[in-house]
Amino acid sequence: MRVLSGIQPTGRFHWGNYFGAIKQYIELQHDHEGYYFIADLHALTTVRDAEVLRGYVRDAALDLLALGLDPAKATLFVQSDIPEVSELCWLLMTGTPLGLLERCHAYKDKKEKGIKADAGLFTYPVLMAADILAYDANWVPVGEDQVQHIEVCRDLARSFNAHYGEVFTMPEARIVADAAKVPGTDGEKMSKSYNNTLGLFEPAKDLRKKIMRISTDSRPMEDPKDPETDHLFQLYRLFATPEQTEEVREIYLRGGFGYGDIKKRLADAADAYLDPARARRAELEGNPDRVDQILREGAERARARARAVLDRAQRACGLSR
Ligand code: TYM
Repeated sequence: MRVLSGIQPTGRFHWGNYFGAIKQYIELQHDHEGYYFIADLHALTTVRDAEVLRGYVRDAALDLLALGLDPAKATLFVQSDIPEVSELCWLLMTGTPLGLLERCHAYKDKKEKGIKADAGLFTYPVLMAADILAYDANWVPVGEDQVQHIEVCRDLARSFNAHYGEVFTMPEARIVADAAKVPGTDGEKMSKSYNNTLGLFEPAKDLRKKIMRISTDSRPMEDPKDPETDHLFQLYRLFATPEQTEEVREIYLRGGFGYGDIKKRLADAADAYLDPARARRAELEGNPDRVDQILREGAERARARARAVLDRAQRACGLSR
C-alpha cells in the first residue's frame, strides 16, 4: 500500500500527534511505501512569522527523525517543496461545492469562536485533498479530527473521476482505536489550541510537573473507579506495557489509591519511553546538513510522483495541449 500523511509545523509535537498519527507512520514504514510531509503551507494559516515558521519546520523534521521515521524506508519532505500540489489544489477547487467546506468542523469551530476566517482556512481541506491525491495514496494514518477532511478528499476525488474519468486513487483514513483522540491534561482532546498539551520533547522535569497537574475528580480515595472513563488512565495506557496496564486497571477497579501515585507511574513510563528519542534528537541537532539532505532527497522523490499525477489530471481536464 502507499501510505501518506502530513503534520503541521505550528509548534512542538505533543502526545496526541504521536499516538494518533506519528507512531502509525513509523510502524507502517516497514511494510509499505510511505510519504510523510511537514505541512508548512497549511501552517501559514496560523503562523505568520517567517523565522518562527522556519524554526518549526526544522523542529518537525528533527522530531520525526528522532522518533524513528527512517529516510531509508520512507520519504520525508516539506509540503511547499512540491509546487505540483498547489496546482492540483486549484484543479480540485474549481469543482468544490462551498457547502462542503462550510460543513467542515475545523472551519466551523474557528468561526464560532469568533476567529476571523480567511480563504486559506476555508479552503484548507482542498489543499489537504491535493496533498493526498497527488501521491496516489491508499492509506492516510491520522487521528479522529482529520477523518472529516479525508471524507472531503474522497468526495472531491469521486466527483473529479466521475466527470473526467479515472484520474485519482481513492484514499482511506487509518485510525488507531485507542489513540484516535488522545486526551489532554484537562480531559478534553489534546490540542495546542486548548493549551492542554504534553510535549514529546519537553524537558523531562517540566513534563513531570505538567503530569502532576493533570486534572482528576474529587471522589474519595477508597472508591473503586472505572479506568475506561478516566483520562489519566487513557494516557498511562499509551506508554505502559500490557502487564503494567492490567496492574493499574486492577488498582482502579479495587479503589483505595491516590491519583498522585498513578501520575508518578505515568511520568516514569513516559520517561522510559521517550528517553531513546530524546537522545537521538540531541545527536541529530548536531548534524543539520544531514537533515537538509534528507528533506531535499525526499522532495525529489515526492515531486516525481506528484508530477505524474498532476500530468494525468491536467490531461483529463483539457489543460495540456
Ligand atoms: P495536525 O498537524 O493538526 O495533526 C497531526 C496529526 O496528529 C493527529 N492528532 C491527534 N490524534 C489523536 N489525538 C489527538 N489529541 C490529536 N491531535 C492531533 C491529527 O489527527 C493528525 O493526524 N490537516 C492536518 C495536516 C495535513 C494532512 C494532510 C494530514 C495536511 N495535509 C494530508 C493527512 C493528509 C493537520 O492539521 O494535522
